[in-house]
Amino acid sequence: MLSNLFKKKKAKMNRGEVLVAPNTHAYQNYADIQINLDFASVDQKKKFFAITSTTPGEGKSSTCVNIAQVYANSDNKVLIIDLDLRRPTIHYFFKMPNSNGITDYCLDKCDLETAIHHTKINNLDVITAGTHTPYPNKILQSHKLNSLFETVKDKYDYIFVDTPPVLAASDMVSVSGTIDQYIVVCYSGFTKKNEFNETISRLRNADVDIAGVVLTHVKKHDKKAYGYNYYSYGYGKNK
Ligand SMILES: Nc1ncnc2c1ncn2[C@@H]1O[C@H](COP(=O)(O)OP(=O)(O)OP(=O)(O)O)[C@@H](O)[C@H]1O
Ligand SMILES: [Mg+2]
Repeated sequence: MLSNLFKKKKAKMNRGEVLVAPNTHAYQNYADIQINLDFASVDQKKKFFAITSTTPGEGKSSTCVNIAQVYANSDNKVLIIDLDLRRPTIHYFFKMPNSNGITDYCLDKCDLETAIHHTKINNLDVITAGTHTPYPNKILQSHKLNSLFETVKDKYDYIFVDTPPVLAASDMVSVSGTIDQYIVVCYSGFTKKNEFNETISRLRNADVDIAGVVLTHVKKHDKKAYGYNYYSYGYGKNK
């Protein structure tokens, strides 16, 4: 089960950054998400996904890297961008330094080639958040970031962006125009219903397209949660 596997690895690694191994049950769960996302873009291909949640710690970064590796393993050229500039963690998953990332590129401290880090997984590249900035909004609203998006759109089949939680920061509204679809992560049995609803309203008010909801920390025998998990796919902005 996803939750048990995360607990075991967490104890070993002391942090929660788990890149699940192919041929595991957990990996299959992420592969199922790929199937759902592919169905959702049957008429018009979606390639730029943002992963968000209501509050911190619900599983955004884990969901982001693991969906990205599933796409990379199915022969797609994939890029992960860490736009959670306040709490960046993507670099931990790949055991790489958080230098020469988004902030460095936007502040002209490095070029794009240097900012793109190759991972050990074939076809999977990463742009980390980069050197800490006290002004994440300035970076997110910069022309430099927008032109980076345009460039990487041509270079990659799929791009997955890790973002801050919706209720904790309004950061992402400035880049929402570039994102094709949002994936909303929800911590089963923990996220408050009214707060989750507020998240969905804010995303809808920003006129973003919601691909679906990924339930994390689902207990093995929680049939209700499982039902919701599958049912929740296709959670479109007009529904
Ligand atoms: N599907 C899952 N089942 C069980 N545990 C999970 C799952 N996904 C993530 N976790 C665990 O939950 C914790 C938080 O995960 P993660 O760092 O991905 O969340 P986050 O939303 O990115 O957090 P933050 O808001 O701090 O960036 C980690 O310990 C991680 O291992
Ligand atoms: Mg995170």
